[in-house]
Parts: sequence; structure tokens; C-alpha cells
Amino acid sequence: MKNIVILISGGGSNMAAIVKTAQQEQWERRYGVRIAAVVSNKADAGGLVFAQEQGIATAVLDHKAYPSREAFDAALAAQLDEFAPVLVVLAGFMRILTPGFVAHYAGRLINIHPSLLPAFTGLHTHQRAIDAGCKFAGVTVHQVTAELDVGPILDQAVVPVLPGDTAETLAARVLTQEHIIYPRAVRALVQQLG
Ligand code: GRF
Repeated sequence: MKNIVILISGGGSNMAAIVKTAQQEQWERRYGVRIAAVVSNKADAGGLVFAQEQGIATAVLDHKAYPSREAFDAALAAQLDEFAPVLVVLAGFMRILTPGFVAHYAGRLINIHPSLLPAFTGLHTHQRAIDAGCKFAGVTVHQVTAELDVGPILDQAVVPVLPGDTAETLAARVLTQEHIIYPRAVRALVQQLG
């Protein structure tokens, strides 16, 4: 059995979408992969409860307990490597990762970013899209490279920006698409594993 590990910091709705899709489509039987663990840097991340309810192993590594970014990333990698993951999925994991961590998982580390990359890397993507007068916004799944929110694009979805949109209403519209394209992108990678 090949292992996928998902990293979260918050509600974990993207993680849950991937877990549900894997269950519905029987990824274990079909592709020999399972969601082996969900790891959070925040003990109160809502998604941890969902993962535990699904019988998925969970772990919390509080980044504030480590003296440096490098020390946290080393501990995180040690935790992840216990599962020997074929794929590490960042799903609302709100940490900038060190080049060493990214290199360690080169080719098996992916992220979801709520904009149409290469536009609007970084934070506050929805407000920035509204402020720029964009008529369309969206979401991108990409491979992670050392530079933040840059890296080969694996999948995207587009939504309209509607008159009167706030960052919240636009974020909600984008999130419904995130829940479609992230499971789809993970499935495509899993199928390539053979
Ligand atoms: C998503 O919008 C993701 O794209 C962003 O953080 C949010 C995480 O949501 N980077 P969730 O924790 O998956 O519900």
C-alpha cells in the first residue's frame, strides 16, 4: 500500500474532500494508495477531528515549539517519513517551507493556492483579485518548488467575480471549486504512480 500524507492548519475542507473522494472511488483497491495520515501545525485545526473519525492517523507538530524554521521542518520531515509518503499534499497548510524540506520531497509535494497562478501569489488573494477589477478568479493546484506559490501547474478552475462580491463571497465560490480540482489532481498523480 502506498501512502499519501495531508498537511493542514485549519478547517481541512480540502483534506476532507480528498478523503471522501478516495473512499467513494475506492482508491485503496483501485490504485493501492491510502490517505495514511493528516498532520497539522495547529492542535486546534478542525480537520483533525474529521480525520480521526475516518480512522486516519493524525499528528500535531506545533511550529512554535521549535527554535527555527529549519528545526521545525526537520521534525516535520521526520514525522512524515514515518509514513514513507509517495505524495505529500499541502491543504491549507499555512507555513512557508524551507528549501531543504522542499528538496527532500521534490516531485511528490503539491499545494492548492486560491488564485489563478501566476497571478496573486501569497495571501489575501480574493481581495486582491476584487481590487484589481478581475472578472474571473479561481484556484490552482501546483507542484511545490522552493519559491512560494510557484511551480508547475497541475490543475486549475475558474469562477466569475460577481458585482458586489466581497473577499468572503468570492472565497466561498472558489472553495467549491477547490473541492473538485484537488481530489482530481491527486487522483491524476496517483494514477501515474502505476
Ligand atoms: C483554501 O482556500 C486553500 O486554498 C487556502 O487555504 C484554504 C484552506 O481551506 N490556501 P481548508 O482548510 O481546506 O478548508
